[in-house]
Amino acid sequence: MLIRLDKFLADTGYGTRSNVKQFIKKNAVLVDNVKVTKPDVKVDTEKTVVSVNGKEVRFEEFEYYMMNKPAGVISASNDEREKTVVDLISEKKRRDLFPVGRLDRDTVGLLIITNDGKLSQKLLAPGKHVEKVYLVKVTGKLDEEDVKAFSEGLDIGDEKLTKPAGLSILEVYEAGKDAGTEKASSEEIYEDKCMSTEFITEAHVTLTEGRFHQVKRMFEARGHEVIFLKRLSMGSLKLDEKLSEGEYRRLTPEEITSLRGGI
Ligand code: URA
Repeated sequence: MLIRLDKFLADTGYGTRSNVKQFIKKNAVLVDNVKVTKPDVKVDTEKTVVSVNGKEVRFEEFEYYMMNKPAGVISASNDEREKTVVDLISEKKRRDLFPVGRLDRDTVGLLIITNDGKLSQKLLAPGKHVEKVYLVKVTGKLDEEDVKAFSEGLDIGDEKLTKPAGLSILEVYEAGKDAGTEKASSEEIYEDKCMSTEFITEAHVTLTEGRFHQVKRMFEARGHEVIFLKRLSMGSLKLDEKLSEGEYRRLTPEEITSLRGGI
């Protein structure tokens, strides 16, 4: 791909298009070993060797990260007042990263962050039915009636019923005796909610659509409140268990290929 030098440097993390122009003037920027001062020099992202102050700069058109989203952070690219998931990625080069879909502020777990709009569209397109699996803790006891209701689709106040969803009950236990595998990220909120219920059920939910607050609204329709929600997978991509909340890593080439191929 042939692009201007200022775009090349802006896209590789050297500043905005306007301050990169100054940057080129003030620094030793070499294009195929020749010093340049003009921002409109054309470079081939695959072939041209660009270096800044003696260091070669490699162009990556797309970046792909998997994050274990922490609670308290919003799923957005930037926000004037709030910390976003993209703010947490300190090593990013690209300035156009965004989260693929949204998780609520208090939801944790798998979030893909990229600047690949095509992949994002495919993963989120309603017609593609990409499966998302969540671990959920809800107030009260879930039973086979709930499993049936999820599989038949629920009225959550929208025009249409939800698509058939999977509900697999893992464990029912007394509130306060947390037998579950996952700790809620905000213990205070969690304990608060536990006070108002006698039992807690832990379950897996599998959705093929992504409506606003969908998991919470589905349980609400069945008379249960979600007290903990974590996304475990999206299509072929599973949350890396080595990532603690707030941590992220780049997707491997195999994971990217599989996400593309599996849709
Ligand atoms: N469903 C919800 O209710 N919240 C999320 O963050 C994701 C799915």
